[in-house]
Amino acid sequence: VPDAYEGNSVNVVLDQVPDDFNSLHELPDSYAWTTLNEHPSLDSDSVPVVDLNDPNALQLLGHACKTWGVFQLTNHGIPQTLVHDMESAARSLFSLPAQQKLKVARSPGQISGYGFHLIAAFWDKQQWSDCITEEFEKEIKKLASRLMWLMLASLGISKDDVEWDGPKGDDQNASAVFQFNSYPSCPDPDRTLGLVPHTDSSLVSIVHQSNIDGLQVFREGTGWFTIQPVPGALVVNVGDLMSILSNGLYSSVLHRVLVKRAQHRISLVYHYGPPAAVKIAPLEKLFGPSHPPLYPPVTNWNEYISTKAKLKGKALPSLRLY
Ligand code: SIN
Ligand code: FE2
Repeated sequence: VPDAYEGNSVNVVLDQVPDDFNSLHELPDSYAWTTLNEHPSLDSDSVPVVDLNDPNALQLLGHACKTWGVFQLTNHGIPQTLVHDMESAARSLFSLPAQQKLKVARSPGQISGYGFHLIAAFWDKQQWSDCITEEFEKEIKKLASRLMWLMLASLGISKDDVEWDGPKGDDQNASAVFQFNSYPSCPDPDRTLGLVPHTDSSLVSIVHQSNIDGLQVFREGTGWFTIQPVPGALVVNVGDLMSILSNGLYSSVLHRVLVKRAQHRISLVYHYGPPAAVKIAPLEKLFGPSHPPLYPPVTNWNEYISTKAKLKGKALPSLRLY
């Protein structure tokens, strides 16, 4: 961590819980984000869609990771019924009375339970959303692992090049967080955010955003692009740890969520990371005398998350900046 970032205090609001959104008929000031319209929203281009059955899937996926840091994935093998069942389960959970949801409120410092998105800790303003985090789910874990290895394969990296702690390429110990997000309908959607701009700290994150748009990704020099839901497709984000592993060949994607006046949007997000004790550093094959390592190594995923907390949610800057 560059010295300049050491010692930044984190604004801890984890012990607060979301309002009962249904009872709010006007947007409280605490939810109004003045930075919302700093950049235009655009629809001049669209996030790539990669069909996993396409014979060129590897190249297409690699190209999407290099240029956008995100893509929509079709033919991913997760049964649609499973995804829909999970979405309805999430919808029922979020529809419970606030008092009931608060029985499983997340305690400060914990990952699991009901409450604000973990990223809320870095900001004074509130976001029009709440979330439930759960243990991982088997099918999506297999997909996440497959995607991680495909992303690396498209850079010429095989399992033998990655030194996880334990048997080479052993994904059984991979860590993951499964998170359900709820963005209730909002009386004043143009003045608030469902989720503040952020990058995911994972290697790879997979998002089911139902059929309601709201997720936007940022492209440097242009602005915010809405990821228009493609039926059955999952959104795949390059996470910060993948930027580090790939020595900056892939960049984690900056994204945010807007809310709706009349629709209650649900999303299911699976954050996939390395086994708990694994050091993450640029892969040896991806640097050399003319391409030095761009990132310092991080001891493990948890340490990276604490570092990011000290950076108030900003991804580890590449060493090139110093
Ligand atoms: C997230 O970035 O965690 C949520 C994405 C979404 O709601 O679409
Ligand atoms: Fe995210």
